[in-house]
Amino acid sequence: MCGIVGYIGKEQAAPILLDGLSRLEYRGYDSAGIAVCTAGGFLQVAKSKGRLQVLSDKIGGGEDVRGTIGIGHTRWATHGEPNDVNSHPHLSQDEKIAVIHNGIIENYVEIKEFLIAEGVRFVSETDTEVVAQLLAFYYNECGDFFEAVGRVLRRIEGAYALGMMCADHPDMIITARKDAPLLLGFGDGANYIASDATALLPYTRDVVYMEDGEIAVLTRESITIYNAMQQVIEKEHSHIDWEVSAAEKGGYAHFMFKEIMEQPEALRKAISPRLRGGRIVFDDVSLTARQLRHIERIYIVACGSSYHVGMVGKYNLERLMRKSVEVCLASEFRYSDPLVDDKTLVIVISQSGETLDTMAALREAKSLGARVLSIVNVVGSSIARESDDVLYTYAGPEIAVATTKAYSTQLAVLNMLGLYFADMLGSVSKEEYEAIVKGLEALPTQVEETLASCEDIQKFAASYFNHDSVFFIGRNLDYTLGLEGSLKLKEISYIHSEAYASGELKHGTISLIEQGTLVIALGTYGALFDKAMSNVVEVKSRGADVLALTTQSHRAEMEKTVENVLVVPDTHPVLQPSLGVVPLQLFAYYVALHRGCDIDKPRNLAKSVTVE
Ligand code: G6P
Repeated sequence: MCGIVGYIGKEQAAPILLDGLSRLEYRGYDSAGIAVCTAGGFLQVAKSKGRLQVLSDKIGGGEDVRGTIGIGHTRWATHGEPNDVNSHPHLSQDEKIAVIHNGIIENYVEIKEFLIAEGVRFVSETDTEVVAQLLAFYYNECGDFFEAVGRVLRRIEGAYALGMMCADHPDMIITARKDAPLLLGFGDGANYIASDATALLPYTRDVVYMEDGEIAVLTRESITIYNAMQQVIEKEHSHIDWEVSAAEKGGYAHFMFKEIMEQPEALRKAISPRLRGGRIVFDDVSLTARQLRHIERIYIVACGSSYHVGMVGKYNLERLMRKSVEVCLASEFRYSDPLVDDKTLVIVISQSGETLDTMAALREAKSLGARVLSIVNVVGSSIARESDDVLYTYAGPEIAVATTKAYSTQLAVLNMLGLYFADMLGSVSKEEYEAIVKGLEALPTQVEETLASCEDIQKFAASYFNHDSVFFIGRNLDYTLGLEGSLKLKEISYIHSEAYASGELKHGTISLIEQGTLVIALGTYGALFDKAMSNVVEVKSRGADVLALTTQSHRAEMEKTVENVLVVPDTHPVLQPSLGVVPLQLFAYYVALHRGCDIDKPRNLAKSVTVE
């Protein structure tokens, strides 16, 4: 979704803004723009539809826009089509105010009508232009930029991260946040704003995360932060320890492929510090055994692939903890009047820690008295900050829109949590506990082995990439694995794809199986392998072209029925999806490659979905 960068310092601002925006490209966007304030107090704006490169070419890589203070934006259209006019920054009619905005101003129609009645002329269809015009209106009324910002914030409703400049103050950026991510970067003689720490990696590691209702005033020398009552506050600084190289392609053709390949390392970072002497240790969980026993209901709440992690978690946590676990899409949970009280544990899963629906679900759960434990990748993100307990996944920055290493680390952490809780509750045998711990220890290396044997996947992708519809079938954990495999494929290759619990085939989907239909049959869940096989026979007898995925121990059996078989190593059943997902990620990747798709930035999708 939209990205924000702001710079005030001694260097030329435009190249820094363009560089920062390029680090936010992964979030998904359809136009980009910057505004730079010249020393003479003149706001220069350049913006264009399409890729950032178009904007950069238009302004000579930033050389043509001179000034040491500026704001930049990548827009993901919500109000008004993606075009040059609707892209940000937006200027007020008198060209004194420039604004960039992430989020949605919900009462913009009413404010626009008010301003039109006051004689203001609008040029765009956006909700954001209303902020620029209203800010100019109040500024003209009171003559004080900061005071005018305060008035605007009291008038607007909705979600926002705002970057604001005034031509009369060529030494100041004002920024404000409500329900949209925003952070401040502290440099040497320079300060920054950004929607995402990735934008600032080459410039500073010293950041402060803004909270809802806060306003900050940036000059070259300082940043002053105010609370909603406009009182100056001190905030704790955080240090970003991600390497710049982690957010760069480093010789790989695509971030997605790089991130698939980074999974063994990411898993090591997520698992190893939490395994000591054969025991799982979560220093970061404060929930006690007594509190856990008091919990009557567990929800797992998330969106997208994080929700699919939750689906695996439902099966595994119920198996290990012998407690009922509901898994809910965050967008449904928040509006479903959920049965949540102080005897409920809500496990929230989110890579970005900023997904709006997930954030809203978390707040709903907390307001109903639940205890919230989150599994998050981005340190200091909103979901992490508002949870009672946070388990970080330590996957490092994930840039490709389609998640891979974040999914894998979330899954490992959730499985570990299930085992940790089961041990606390005494619901898991010593033997099973030890077997899963052994499996966790071996997991990164087994993922490495799986990645090393990917030639078959390339071969199958080359023969299947022309299909226009694919069905993933499987039972139990293989069904949940199919959900993720199917999502990966449709996200990046645009092939219609559905995941079905094999037992449901006869209730509908089997009517769609005809000669040549591609069915990806998942048979990695040993306990139900025979049942999975009967479904394979069923679809084959209706003409399906089957590609199967199974484990080493079931390979021979599978090959009796299916010619094209992908194989992963065996592990403990609860960990099997952690291996099974790897070939499915690679299959989606190679299929998309054959189809010539924009793999890292698939159409219409965003990395971090910060609007409803
Ligand atoms: C977007 C991403 C997905 C991700 C989902 C949830 O749709 O493209 O990869 O799974 O958001 O995001 P979160 O950051 O909350 O895990």
